[in-house]
Amino acid sequence: MPQLYGCGHGLSGCGLACRRRINGVTIEVIDARGAFTKLTSNAAGNFHTSAALAQPLRSVSVVRGNTTAAMMGAPAGACSSCHGVPPAISAPGRVYAR
Ligand code: HEC
Repeated sequence: MPQLYGCGHGLSGCGLACRRRINGVTIEVIDARGAFTKLTSNAAGNFHTSAALAQPLRSVSVVRGNTTAAMMGAPAGACSSCHGVPPAISAPGRVYAR
């Protein structure tokens, strides 16, 4: 299940900036067919939909207040396959809300 973290790097003992709230963050997904789905992370930072999303996803946006971090053309819903520690290819670490 995709998950948000308090920061991108996931080192233990990183600073206060890494303890951002992870629940109630909005994740907006536009799938390959253009269907819009809005998800909300839970207390563990997990987000999930039972809707059948057509992949590759056209865009994925992590929205906190007025700040959005977006990824165009996410090939798969398994975010952590790339957004891990260490990240795969050039992914900027774990998925987190700004
Ligand atoms: C195949 C690897 C891969 C997968 C799977 C993937 N990503 Fe990404 N992601 C990347 C790469 C590479 C970048 C940096 C380049 C870019 O923005 O396209 C990125 C960038 C991002 C950014 C922008 C980060 C920033 O700091 O600006 C967000 C947000 C993001 N991804 C969320 C997600 C979410 C949510 C999922 C799961 C639905 C996901 N990604 C799945 C590789 C991946």
